[in-house]
Amino acid sequence: MSPSQATCRPLAAHRHGALRGVARAPGDKSISHRAVMIGGLAVGETAIEGLLEGEDVLRTAAALRLLGAEASRDDDGTWRVFGRGVGGLAEAADVIDMGNSGTGARLLLGILAGHPFTAVLTGDASLRRRPMARVTEPLGRMGAAFTGRAGGRLPLAVTGPVDLLPISYNLPIASAQIKSAILLAGLHAPGRTTVVEPAATRDHTELMLAHFGARVEVDETADGGRVVTIDGQPELTGRPVRVPADPSSAAFLAVAALITPESEVRLPGVGLNPTRGGLYKVLTEMGGAVAVENHRHEAGEPIGDLVVRGSELKGVAVPADIAPTMIDEYPILAVAAACATGTTSLRGLAELRVKESDRLDAMARGLAACGVTLEAGDDWLEIHGTGHPPAGGATIATDLDHRIAMSFLVLGGVTSAPVAIDDGRPIDTSFPGFVDLMNGLGARIGAAEGII
Ligand code: S3P
Repeated sequence: MSPSQATCRPLAAHRHGALRGVARAPGDKSISHRAVMIGGLAVGETAIEGLLEGEDVLRTAAALRLLGAEASRDDDGTWRVFGRGVGGLAEAADVIDMGNSGTGARLLLGILAGHPFTAVLTGDASLRRRPMARVTEPLGRMGAAFTGRAGGRLPLAVTGPVDLLPISYNLPIASAQIKSAILLAGLHAPGRTTVVEPAATRDHTELMLAHFGARVEVDETADGGRVVTIDGQPELTGRPVRVPADPSSAAFLAVAALITPESEVRLPGVGLNPTRGGLYKVLTEMGGAVAVENHRHEAGEPIGDLVVRGSELKGVAVPADIAPTMIDEYPILAVAAACATGTTSLRGLAELRVKESDRLDAMARGLAACGVTLEAGDDWLEIHGTGHPPAGGATIATDLDHRIAMSFLVLGGVTSAPVAIDDGRPIDTSFPGFVDLMNGLGARIGAAEGII
């Protein structure tokens, strides 16, 4: 659906005072997808607490249902998945629509590669323009067949072979989605499937597969990468899963607090997996007051409570090698950089161009429209902050991208003039309730009609 249609939900953020209070960010999107999918491949019940009930994950649950697993929600919010066993999914009676979710689509392609039937996947306009060859190429080597649009784009049909081949694959880019698609396919292959990643990417698939009883071996390489090997055709057993609060969603609340003087916001139960922690390291280096309290472990994942206080931020150089640990956080980091004193240089951003939107372009254009001085290249961005909030006063095209939408609503909380976004609906893919949660802390976000 085009964002210019009348059904869009334009929102505007107005300057607010100190943000204060406790805010529970929603469940981790990456872990939620994996809990539902791996639960669907396990025997018995997987009870999931804290599942992200955003549209992306609901699409994954609907897909698993179409493929014969059971996934339902109790009144208290616990989700129960009853799986069909590894390789036990059944042909879907319809096209599977993954909505806006690249993670959902790519991981599911890995699972479908292990099933000897044909499935057709599609998605919204954003997902239909995103590259899929990065997963269909290795899955093709394992024996799966794909018929899709140019560049392997959705809609795409996948047919798994009767006997999938285990492979050893060197990832050409550091991507947890590609790694996970291959590992999930490898679950269905006899023997051992190995993925070598050039840099450590989020390891939720490995942790969750091990939690469900698979044998997963992980070795570090001398140059900071990892070699991940899975033994195929295990019996997975349904397990309870508690999903931590999503550090990528908490990032919007954290940066909003950091850039607003006198703020103090507590974010309980946030996932602290080191493969996701890049943003918080960079914010601390910028002078941001981010403290971690009550460090603990739940379901194999480290978590803690973040306490974030309004801070005077300074520009820093963010090198390319940290990108895999904060790949989704660049839009909100760019907002922090726009409010900092001095230059923040961001390198190694090529992958931002193939996210839900071209995020490098969206941030560069949106920040410039809000009066921020910056320069952008193919895979880099330099943002020159003055130490004062930017002017604002622009309406940003969010292009079906939840993180662009939330980033500019956070920025609008400190700019001189309000910042509007053309459509707030994509926020529901990852952070339902974002506007109410922000307003509960003291933000002033509302419908945009008549404001700008
Ligand atoms: C994800 C991996 C990342 C990230 C995405 C979620 C995952 O994508 O951007 O939001 O859950 O595996 P890439 O693997 O394409 O970097």
